[in-house]
Amino acid sequence: MKIIHTCHSLIEEINKLREQSPQTGFVPTMGALHNGHLQLIKTAREENDIVVCSIFVNPVQFNSALDLEHYPRNPENDIALVKNYCDILFMPSVAEMYPRPPQEEYHFGLLEATMEGQYRPGHFNGVAIVVKRLFDLVQPDIAYFGRKDFQQLAIIKQLVHDYNMKITIRSIDTVREDDGLAMSSRNRLLSPQARSVASFIWQTLCKAQLLKKEKNPREISHWIQEQFNGHKSFSLEYAQLVNAETLEEVNEYNQAENIVACVAVWLDKVRLIDNIMIK
Ligand code: PAJ
Repeated sequence: MKIIHTCHSLIEEINKLREQSPQTGFVPTMGALHNGHLQLIKTAREENDIVVCSIFVNPVQFNSALDLEHYPRNPENDIALVKNYCDILFMPSVAEMYPRPPQEEYHFGLLEATMEGQYRPGHFNGVAIVVKRLFDLVQPDIAYFGRKDFQQLAIIKQLVHDYNMKITIRSIDTVREDDGLAMSSRNRLLSPQARSVASFIWQTLCKAQLLKKEKNPREISHWIQEQFNGHKSFSLEYAQLVNAETLEEVNEYNQAENIVACVAVWLDKVRLIDNIMIK
């Protein structure tokens, strides 16, 4: 595996590799890697000749300076984790990615206005800025994203569509800890006490899924809200049942072919998101 820090050498190296074996898979990340990330990378390895992974804690997608400062970083560990699966690991500095403050503005309508977009203004513009730049550099055939960040996945699909990019977006199921907690770089910021109750998120989503026989989507989202409001360790930001394609909130089952329940909660000053397919 080659570790590359500059855009120029990344382009050069990829072009060299492509001469022999063309099909390229790409996994963008912000590091502090765990088995969820690794699942994306291993799938990319199985499906491509060349695997490129990036680690870049993207400042423009953070809407709080404190959140950016506290974001977990563990480059040595990350390198050891991915070295057997990647051909190229791209780890640019902020100055390399953004020689001057980025000016691009991306708009995704409702896809960005709801849920995460409502609570993290500018977040998806920041995600789109970095992902578009990374896609332009790597020019992958397939790029891999996790379903844990369900709204991000919808935004990236829209981005690729809007710019006619010839990139297939592959989504990968959420990888979980034994107790059901969705793996996340942020989990390591949880205190042991908070970690011990964190599985409540997934347990609640699983129970919500079972409720579909007796409750409509609007009732289920209220039920989820009640569960978190009744638990002293959690503070709920949103719990919504939405159309899996458009992210429009749904009240009845016939309003969407596929319905997903999405939640964002605060636990011990850590913000966690998760989701489950309801229909
Ligand atoms: P990051 O949070 O590091 O996640 C990188 C990729 O790993 C994303 O596609 C995310 O959905 C996926 N992922 C995270 N946890 C997962 C889990 N438990 N199971 C499966 N996949 C999981 O998402 C980002 O970084 C950034 O926004 C990025 C797209 C890199 C742009 O900066």
